[in-house]
Amino acid sequence: GGLRFSTSCVRNVVIKHVTIIGGGQMGAGIAQVAASTGHTVTLVDTSEDILKKSIKGIEGSLKRVVKKKFADKPEAGEEFIQKVLKNVAISSDAKAAVQSTDLVLEAIVENLKIKQDLFGALDKVAPEHTVFASNTSSLPITDIASSTARLDRFGGLHFFNPVPMMKLVEVIGTSSTSQETFDSLLNFSKALGKTPVSCKDTPGFIVNRLLVPYMMEAIRLHERGSAPLCHGSKEDIDIAMKLGAGYPMGPFELLDYVGLDTAKFIMDGWSAMDPGNPLFAQSELLNKLVAEGKYGKKTGEGFYKYK
Ligand code: 3HC
Repeated sequence: GGLRFSTSCVRNVVIKHVTIIGGGQMGAGIAQVAASTGHTVTLVDTSEDILKKSIKGIEGSLKRVVKKKFADKPEAGEEFIQKVLKNVAISSDAKAAVQSTDLVLEAIVENLKIKQDLFGALDKVAPEHTVFASNTSSLPITDIASSTARLDRFGGLHFFNPVPMMKLVEVIGTSSTSQETFDSLLNFSKALGKTPVSCKDTPGFIVNRLLVPYMMEAIRLHERGSAPLCHGSKEDIDIAMKLGAGYPMGPFELLDYVGLDTAKFIMDGWSAMDPGNPLFAQSELLNKLVAEGKYGKKTGEGFYKYK
């Protein structure tokens, strides 16, 4: 009698402890949501300074969440914030951080070599059962996973900005991802209070594959707008899509929010892959703004200026 556990393969890992590599907007947002839903989190970046900023960002965002959620109970709100912050540890040593963890989720710079090197190194020190996932928006999960020996325990978990507000997670399986791993990632997304959709490892998955060409088309419309009797200003285009299509932000507001550098990076990858495709054609205006360091909200100017 008694229970028998399989020792040769990993089954339906329940993710309780998460290691998030990358303390930027995305990584910090994911850490916040995981900690808010009762997971323990280690947030990793290269320096204590960066991590202190990440925690400040999490605190700021939690205050906004609490203001709504605990509107008439500010003390309970403050208690909630302290409880969530207690669930987040920080570390600048990725290898040490993954010694004991159920999921390693990466949200670092969109550079294939850097991601491969990171996962290759962590693969050697992370426990057998640990699932690896990338939050990449533009690189193939298959290529990132190739530097590891855990192809069956590797997938994509793609979140959206602002992570605490956006309900969607794209769960990406490669041809090697096991059903158990995929289910663990789906269940983890649900445990975060998000709605997962299943995606194949194709460029842009679902959301960016539709959203990025749409935003680029808006820029092209605006670029053509200087001709007589042609389309209007970026302000008009933003108003039109908000009031005519029910989008919470117009395409230029959204480009500034996502980051023009990010949008260009995604587009450049796609146009290199499929140069003849007019959907992926370069935009002079986008290239100019990025060259001038006008990345949007985060640099104080993109299509619009910010205080
Ligand atoms: N943390 C916590 N709460 C937040 C928040 C954050 N970061 N951002 C907004 N909120 C909440 C707050 O309660 C806020 O109220 P407050 O200002 O009093 O604190 C409330 O939302 C309303 O916010 P705003 O008044 O600033 O503006 P909106 O009503 O327009 O809501 C929005 C903001 C949720 C960001 C909404 O505009 C929206 O959904 N925009 C579209 C975002 C989108 O499309 N994201 C996907 C981008 S693509 C992507 O990320 C993929 C990547 O790979 C490129």
